[in-house]
Amino acid sequence: MKKIAVFTSGGDAPGMNACIRSVVRTGIYEGLEVEGIRRGYQGMIDNDFLPLERRSVANIIQLGGTILKTARCLDFMTPEGRQKAADNLRSRNIDGLVCIGGNGSYTGALKLYEEHGIPTIGLPGTIDNDLYGTDYTIGFDTAINTAVQAIDKIRDTADSHDRVFLVEVMGRDAGFIGISVGISGGAEGILIPEDTHDMEKIHRYFDRSDRRSKSFSIIVVAEGDQEGGVLVLSQKLSEKYPDLDIRATILGHIQRGGSPTANDRILASRLGYSAVHALIQGHKSQTLGIVNDKVKMTPFDEAIHKHKPINSSLIRMAEILSS
Ligand code: F6P
Repeated sequence: MKKIAVFTSGGDAPGMNACIRSVVRTGIYEGLEVEGIRRGYQGMIDNDFLPLERRSVANIIQLGGTILKTARCLDFMTPEGRQKAADNLRSRNIDGLVCIGGNGSYTGALKLYEEHGIPTIGLPGTIDNDLYGTDYTIGFDTAINTAVQAIDKIRDTADSHDRVFLVEVMGRDAGFIGISVGISGGAEGILIPEDTHDMEKIHRYFDRSDRRSKSFSIIVVAEGDQEGGVLVLSQKLSEKYPDLDIRATILGHIQRGGSPTANDRILASRLGYSAVHALIQGHKSQTLGIVNDKVKMTPFDEAIHKHKPINSSLIRMAEILSS
């Protein structure tokens, strides 16, 4: 192994830069040449590569976003797109890749290996924390801290006006952000896709007259919840409980930005470092994660298809603590 390339793919996540820095510095320390690929798989197809040196990644550990930029690339879903990408990698003598991204990015890397034999190590970079094979994904810790800070502020205005606030957080199909933000923000209710009884709990909560006279409430709603988002939900709840003064807030992409927390920087650094060593050791089609504080390897196929469950005891605990 003489030359590797690193890229970020899919939705950006705070800590991606810390991970790029770790890959570059570990690679150079181990005597490898390292290139970056701009805009993920799109840059691989468009031949948009750049050489990276130790100093290229100075002063980025604290930056949100990704210096390599990222994209969700439709062209890479076609065999022709992947052929073009593989040709570009071969012409540049790249022997291995480090892909920082989510499930879609892992799927692309698996196909590239199956069709063209190009080894890739995948690292979990998404705020959603929904990837199998790791306790936490890069960016999750920062995102939940950003959302909790926002909820603390919403709490002030909710209290002043005696209002109910429905606060929508990200997490496409999974409730990891929702449950974590709900617990740490002291929410009175949490709606997540994994809890099919969550709406009953909200009705139970508001049906009790003592709760209705409580000055204010915060309900955290995951964007993937079955209720169809906070705008639809606020309409429904306003009709059922006309005496409540309800407002809806969508936190949106602020959850994806900002300087990564120390935990995200450490996670990103550990995974970037281990990815380079995994490539040097000859691993070809694996993801890395951290489970019980140890780096764990999981084949792409398994990481893509296995579901990471939410700890159901957290759902029960959240209900008790909010009662
Ligand atoms: O996967 C990360 C994520 O932020 C999800 O939580 C969200 O549903 C999605 O990306 C939003 O994607 P985009 O930025 O492309 O709108």
